[in-house]
Amino acid sequence: MILGVAVVAVTALLTFSSFFNKWYYEPVLKPGQPPLPPGSLGWPVFGNMAAFLRAFKSGRPDTFMAHYVAKYNRVGFYKAFLFWQPTVLAATPEACKFVLSKDSFETGWPESAVELMGRNSFAGLTGESHFKLRKLTEPAVNSPKALEQYVPLIVNNIKACLARWSAQDKIVLLTEMRRFTFLTVLHILYGKDSSLDVDETFSLYYIVNQGIRALPINFPGTAYNKALKARRKLIKLIQDVINQRRASGKPQETNILSLLMDQLDDKGEALEDAQIIDVLNMYMNAGHDSTAHVIMWLMIFLKRNPDVLEKVKTEQDGIAKCISEGEMLNLSDIKRMRYLSSVVDETLRLANISPMVFRRALVDVEFNGFTIPKGWHAEAWLRQVHMDPHVHPDPEKFDPERWEKYGASPFTFMPFGMGNRTCPGNELAKLQIFIVVHYFVTGYRWTALNPNSKVSYLPHPRPRDFYSVRVSKLL
Ligand code: HEM
Repeated sequence: MILGVAVVAVTALLTFSSFFNKWYYEPVLKPGQPPLPPGSLGWPVFGNMAAFLRAFKSGRPDTFMAHYVAKYNRVGFYKAFLFWQPTVLAATPEACKFVLSKDSFETGWPESAVELMGRNSFAGLTGESHFKLRKLTEPAVNSPKALEQYVPLIVNNIKACLARWSAQDKIVLLTEMRRFTFLTVLHILYGKDSSLDVDETFSLYYIVNQGIRALPINFPGTAYNKALKARRKLIKLIQDVINQRRASGKPQETNILSLLMDQLDDKGEALEDAQIIDVLNMYMNAGHDSTAHVIMWLMIFLKRNPDVLEKVKTEQDGIAKCISEGEMLNLSDIKRMRYLSSVVDETLRLANISPMVFRRALVDVEFNGFTIPKGWHAEAWLRQVHMDPHVHPDPEKFDPERWEKYGASPFTFMPFGMGNRTCPGNELAKLQIFIVVHYFVTGYRWTALNPNSKVSYLPHPRPRDFYSVRVSKLL
């Protein structure tokens, strides 16, 4: 009897739970409105997070979207409940184009991530205020004139790194690359003599980045709680730099901090310090870790594909020969790296450092026979497009030549996103990658110490040993 009641109660609870999200979140559509996309909002609170985590933690991340495609066909949009929000997953070039280029969508980072990056950062800003701050800062990061200035900084930095690494028994390449890219961005944001302590800020940003991808549980000891504390420390450190700059007068060189401090709004008023700090924080957060991961993957792919490495080396040796004694690589040399450019694109496609980007529907929108309700999140699944055999034949294969065969069209290749939030550091990222690979392959060789290290996909794809290698100088 008791058992019978228990079974009925559990069944009733399960049935109620399985319908809760549908009942609570799915809107009643107006007559004539197309239906919601196929899919299910899953279980209360966690929605479809278990399926997402299972796929990414099992080492087969593409099985997550493959389930939707197998069940509902390649219809472009699926409904789900992810990161605590009712969400539409955009999974074809056309669906991503719709989400990333329409004004009816705005940025939709999870609240916990906005809290860590800052409400005044690009993650929290929308419309005109986002546009203005991008327009002000992007040229100083990404324009050809800015890039030209950064070449010596990057070249000297990587040359010093390579000399140091080759004197060590082993290095953890990802950790070293993070530090390398961190130094580049620190310089661009604050100029060459910022008073910020590199070790301290580097560790604080690491903690913040961990928190951005962690469960948003603010309880002592959780990754999220540690990240909030690290953010508070960073704010204080950056505020000190701003105060010092104010006290010491105008800096001689232009950097992002000086641009932001000199900026006046429409009423002739300066930006608030809290705004300046958030913008700097986001550039730093977004600006070093991704590039470091891509460089690491490129070195892994080269090692796994000796024929590709050989071709890259031949091209780079040819370029190195044309550089006179005492001179260094410049932007015109980099433009001649045609084959390496395909290798970089193929790495960006296959590594999928940013698997998806977040948006939110500002109004009810209709596309391809489906309604995306106002307020729902929309995730453009860049990874799915990059790994879709309809878009990129034999997608698992590392094949730089594919780019010579069919080239890239805008919404089939989106490692830096697309639309008004396309990465404002994409050219800087590529510049660093080209320079690192040039000096690595022309002067050094490297050996993977755990070539079979398993790959983790969360928070970013990377081997579990972060790619431990021995670097040696070529004789
Ligand atoms: C290979 C390296 C990189 C990758 C794969 C990458 C990828 C991305 C992607 C996919 C977005 C779009 C997010 C969205 O649509 O919501 C983005 C945005 C952003 N990236 Fe990058 N990024 C890289 C390097 C950099 C660098 C070097 C910087 C600057 C120093 C940077 C700064 C930013 C910023 C500030 C945003 C926010 C833009 C906005 O919301 O308007 N990124 N990045």
